[in-house]
Amino acid sequence: MTKPYKAGIIGTGSTLPETKLTNLQLEHIVETTDEWIMKRTGIRERCILDKEVPLAKLAADAAAKAIEDAGITAADIDLIIATTVTPDYLTPSLACCVQKEIQAARAAAFDLNAACTGFIYALQVAQEFIKNGTYKHILIVSAEALSRVTDYEDRKTCVLFGDGAGAVVVSAVSQEYGIEASIIGAKGEDGGVLTIPCCYWNDEDLEKRNEGKVQVIWMDGSEVFTFASRIMAESTEQVLEKSGLTPQDIQFVFPHQANIRILQNAAKRLGLSMDKIYSNLEYTGNISSASIPVCLDEAAQKKLLKKGDKLVLVAFGGGLTYGAVTITWSKN
Ligand code: COA
Repeated sequence: MTKPYKAGIIGTGSTLPETKLTNLQLEHIVETTDEWIMKRTGIRERCILDKEVPLAKLAADAAAKAIEDAGITAADIDLIIATTVTPDYLTPSLACCVQKEIQAARAAAFDLNAACTGFIYALQVAQEFIKNGTYKHILIVSAEALSRVTDYEDRKTCVLFGDGAGAVVVSAVSQEYGIEASIIGAKGEDGGVLTIPCCYWNDEDLEKRNEGKVQVIWMDGSEVFTFASRIMAESTEQVLEKSGLTPQDIQFVFPHQANIRILQNAAKRLGLSMDKIYSNLEYTGNISSASIPVCLDEAAQKKLLKKGDKLVLVAFGGGLTYGAVTITWSKN
């Protein structure tokens, strides 16, 4: 019997908006200080998408770069999975808007919402389509404009979030490379600790928010912090075990970029030094599902990744959701 195909990442791309919102600027918006934000989160600045630019434009830009990096054309794409919590429209989906922008005429297209874990969920879905031979080339584009659902009068959340887009092309790769194992999971019963109302809200949702603000992020920061620190280490341990690897076999962990202290806690628990934990949150803040593909593209651009490197990608987020993937890097 022939082995099923293995799925790997054959191209990466990312685009961050040029407009920056620095901690020093935030000092003039809410009662906070650069020192507090740096010490408690590790974030110095975030990128903000201009109001008149649709998110689809940013997403399409990152997608086009990933397709070029993969050495294929948009016409080769069979499926587009877009991950986002801030689509321009509920319909057409972000994936359909990207399809139109990049002219991937043959592609099927849908959105996937697993909040900050969206990219990991999408990798798992893409992997299944590649493994069973249904599709040859799948574009995952993760794009977020969290500034559009952030209350800039709530200092507990507005210092954390930013905008950006990252994309990858997932295709069949030879057996010694590609995705080795993955896990995804959810704890819906704890979903109330991080919410963004969309088409419905109740009195409790209104009470938690500043008056006149509804479709904005509300978060119990310390509950999310505790969940994130634990689940990041546990998911990494689980996916390593599933792939027969130990933390010492790993060249880099690419975690969801939420707070440097969450990454430090998880690294300590896993017995890894911080130089194995890739982080760019100082200059991006938390860009939800876009954070891992943006990091991957940055690391690839900096030539930090070598063919054969073993990587862990791990995320957690609203839902609550979590997931992790081990991958043997297949690009030079
Ligand atoms: N500037 C100054 N002070 C602030 C502040 C800010 N931006 N935000 C909160 N504070 C204050 C609080 O009001 C509180 O003051 P009080 O003691 O007088 O009430 C104090 O700082 C401590 O607040 P606390 O919420 O305990 O701080 P923290 O150390 O837990 O940090 C977060 C807050 C939000 C940075 C942290 O909880 C966090 O990162 N949580 C996870 C968030 C996350 O990852 N979300 C996305 C998941 S995908």
